[in-house]
Amino acid sequence: MKILLILALGILLSSPAQADPRDDIIAGFKAQGAGDANLANGQKMYSTTYGSGKPDTPKCTTCHGATPQQGGQTRTGKAIDPMAVSRTENRFTDKKMVDKWFRRNCKGVIGRECTAQEKVDFLTFLASQ
Ligand code: HEC
Repeated sequence: MKILLILALGILLSSPAQADPRDDIIAGFKAQGAGDANLANGQKMYSTTYGSGKPDTPKCTTCHGATPQQGGQTRTGKAIDPMAVSRTENRFTDKKMVDKWFRRNCKGVIGRECTAQEKVDFLTFLASQ
């Protein structure tokens, strides 16, 4: 019995660490031509006033929190959880969501889709927060 328990514990401890779904999403953007993440650029994107998209959404923080650690709200007042992964654990773990919102929000704020590099920068910056 004791031996079985030790065996079971051994298997548990030796199983590989859980894969981070964000790694796959980032790998996908790299396959589209992005290089390593530039955290400073990701941080800049988060708070830059672009003004080249829709007039009522000049920056990401029009809806997202003033800092990544703070929550935000949609134009209609619906709460948005903080973007920092340390605050909202499941951020950027669903590729469909990531693609959908990058497409919609980059167009709305910047007036064009974000590049694969910008997506890696933005996502990696927020994963570090
Ligand atoms: C008009 C409001 C609004 C603006 C402006 C906005 N967002 Fe968002 N964003 C949302 C909403 C709503 C969601 C979905 C709710 C959620 O994820 O909590 C979201 C989600 C996202 C997600 C997916 C998060 C995840 O966990 O998968 C990404 C990526 C994103 N936004 C990027 C951006 C970027 C980059 C900008 C600026 C260029 C931006 N957003 C500006 C409203 C906005």
